[in-house]
Amino acid sequence: MPRLEEIIYSGYIAEGETVVEFEKKLSDLLGNPYCLTVNSGTAALHIALNLIGVKDGDEVISTALTAEPTNTTILLTGAKVVFADVEVETGLISPDSIEQNINPNTKAIMVVHYAGMVCDMDRINAISEKYGIPVIEDAAHAFLSTYNGQYIGNNSAYTCFSFQAIKHLTTIDGGLLCLKNEEEFTRARKMRWFGLDKKVSRLDSDITEAGYKYHMNNVNATVGLVQLEFLKENVLKYIENGEYFDQELQNIDGLTLLPYYPNTKPSYWLYTMKVERRAAFIAMMTAKGMGASPLHLRNDKHSVFNAPMGVTPNLDLFYEEFVHIPCGWWLTEEDRKFIVDTIKQGW
Ligand SMILES: Cc1ncc(COP(=O)(O)O)c(C=O)c1O
Repeated sequence: MPRLEEIIYSGYIAEGETVVEFEKKLSDLLGNPYCLTVNSGTAALHIALNLIGVKDGDEVISTALTAEPTNTTILLTGAKVVFADVEVETGLISPDSIEQNINPNTKAIMVVHYAGMVCDMDRINAISEKYGIPVIEDAAHAFLSTYNGQYIGNNSAYTCFSFQAIKHLTTIDGGLLCLKNEEEFTRARKMRWFGLDKKVSRLDSDITEAGYKYHMNNVNATVGLVQLEFLKENVLKYIENGEYFDQELQNIDGLTLLPYYPNTKPSYWLYTMKVERRAAFIAMMTAKGMGASPLHLRNDKHSVFNAPMGVTPNLDLFYEEFVHIPCGWWLTEEDRKFIVDTIKQGW
């Protein structure tokens, strides 16, 4: 990869013009001028929570069906994670359950577009507006998923993407925070670098709010820029494979496909479905040389969250049956046909 060699020997590997160029291209792609890169999706979530001012004694409503950073970042602010239930059909956070869990301590609502499937944003936006509580979209899995015909990253005041090694777009490690106005963008830009403003000479600067070491560097941004050249083609392959499974896996005994909300389109980071006798399904797939897994431990099982059990009945049901199969760019026509044919033979 000559571009990487070029940047490594350029003498400027820290955050510089390459990061700015990457951010500009992301802004153009997503249609949001306030795109701020960081060094992980976790960092994006942590900054979003800090922008809202989530702190000790607050509560954040979230989902347990996700990767841990969605919720560990909430704990890092000192706030309590309140796990809402999911919709039993989709596995995505339930708007009714969000609303039931709102109380005067609720400071934010965290939603996760799990596996690339977009949450019921019409209802979640309405709840956010009704109670004046901001929404953070954890879109780590949902790069180029859409809501109302626009890419995710244009809806809520805070959207967080991950560019970690196995995501749709990778910078090896990295992340993106999409905001909605200049003021928060400037504040977040400082927050990602100790609280300093890169545009002001260090000797003339004054930190008014302590920040983190969360910025991206030119090397990771170069990886991102090269990735961007193939991105749409690659994500299109995920989507084609996902739509193929949507079509071909219908009406199979013991298998239930997940519906998508009408004004949304997933970008199919993983292909998620529900299967009866999941252990047997996974064993059958493994024996045939194919990956199948639920991937994430429901987060409320981690003792650090100190979460009550038995309060999310839909999650209990969903969690027993859901499974992911691969649908990435690397699947060939033969691979995906083999997957469908194998599943049709039963387990
Ligand atoms: C749902 C979800 N949120 C947040 C993250 C955190 O992203 P990162 O690994 O870039 O910090 C991940 C990471 O894999 C994730 O799956």
